[in-house]
Amino acid sequence: MDIYFSNEQVNIDALKRKAFNYRWAVHAEGIIPLTAADPDFPIAPQIKESIKKYIEDGYFSYGPPEGIVAFKNAISNWYNRQHQADCNPDFILPVNSAAYALFVVMKTILNEGDEAIIPNPVDFLFRKSIEYAKGVVIPCALDMETGAFKLDKLEQEVNPKTKALMLCNPNNPLGKSYSLDQINAIKSFAKKHNLWLIVDEIWADIYYEKKVCSVLSTSSIPYGKTVVVSGLSKNFGLAGLRIGYIICPDHSFYTKVLENSLHQSTAFGLSPIAQAAGICALTECDEWLYAFRKHLGKMKVLSHEFVKNSGFLMPIESDSTYLLFPKIKHGLDSEDLVKKILETSQVALVPGGKNWFESESEGYLRICYATSEAILEEAFERIKSKKETYF
Ligand SMILES: Cc1ncc(COP(=O)(O)O)c(C=O)c1O
Repeated sequence: MDIYFSNEQVNIDALKRKAFNYRWAVHAEGIIPLTAADPDFPIAPQIKESIKKYIEDGYFSYGPPEGIVAFKNAISNWYNRQHQADCNPDFILPVNSAAYALFVVMKTILNEGDEAIIPNPVDFLFRKSIEYAKGVVIPCALDMETGAFKLDKLEQEVNPKTKALMLCNPNNPLGKSYSLDQINAIKSFAKKHNLWLIVDEIWADIYYEKKVCSVLSTSSIPYGKTVVVSGLSKNFGLAGLRIGYIICPDHSFYTKVLENSLHQSTAFGLSPIAQAAGICALTECDEWLYAFRKHLGKMKVLSHEFVKNSGFLMPIESDSTYLLFPKIKHGLDSEDLVKKILETSQVALVPGGKNWFESESEGYLRICYATSEAILEEAFERIKSKKETYF
């Protein structure tokens, strides 16, 4: 039996008390949520121990505004080891979530009215972070089959007000990552137009056959206006600890980001207990992450088979994340179909549509498969058995 990822490991009672954000705790009894990207499994045992150890002496004092040095080192070593990068820990700012990281970075880069190009489709946080900075969102349609930007389309969107280009690698919701050539093409484009390149790599450790190529990989072309945002919600299932970080290109940008984070005022910051858990995740849990990816690989195949044989969904191949984003056949509206599936099959999914993933996502739906085989099979069986009633 799989010691970490069997059906017995999924504690529905605990999830009903603790898993909010469209998941078990917010749905009626009996509903299976394949919604927000937050795994149904407990965290790595070593992380539990690290949290227990942290509380042992009974102190919960203020932490340093720039983050605990050991955590900054752990992030830089992780990136250098896992993603062949060459990060300087002095330019890494641990923050309270990748979501907050996006907000702070965009606030640092944009002045009111400045434009930022984002992929379409992409997670709604991209739009929200630009709007928070009073910038103008310029969505640029991706090729839905490959997940890539079309460079000629990108060229059309650039004007003197364009300050930034954002990338989600791998892309949520498409579950696609970019090749070294694609990364180089985007970096060259940003360089040519002197744009800030902000890359959200929160999904970069969830891949299958092929490793995700980070924008910070030393094998890609260097570009000094590249900023990476990431966190530990997806790879180590620590969403509730709100662990995020910003990898800045230099001291000057780091100083501005630190100022905008308001950490020095003590109003914001990443709690030391979360950083203790983060140090453990990035230094002691490789084996757990490996087993997690292995389990997810099987769930990906199962989910893909379900979509392919469903008769009303068309699969898009994915190479990363624990998300599938199939197209809905018969031209049904995403929200309507997701509502019907919830009512008749008692399975909650995330609809495509502008409010979730920008306009190109209309006509699609998102399935999160970070759960057990038994739960997934039950959910898919329920959908299959009622599918005639959806149309
Ligand atoms: C691309 C992307 N960025 C950021 C986040 C948010 O991460 P966090 O939990 O650290 O705020 C998510 C969560 O789904 C995501 O998919």
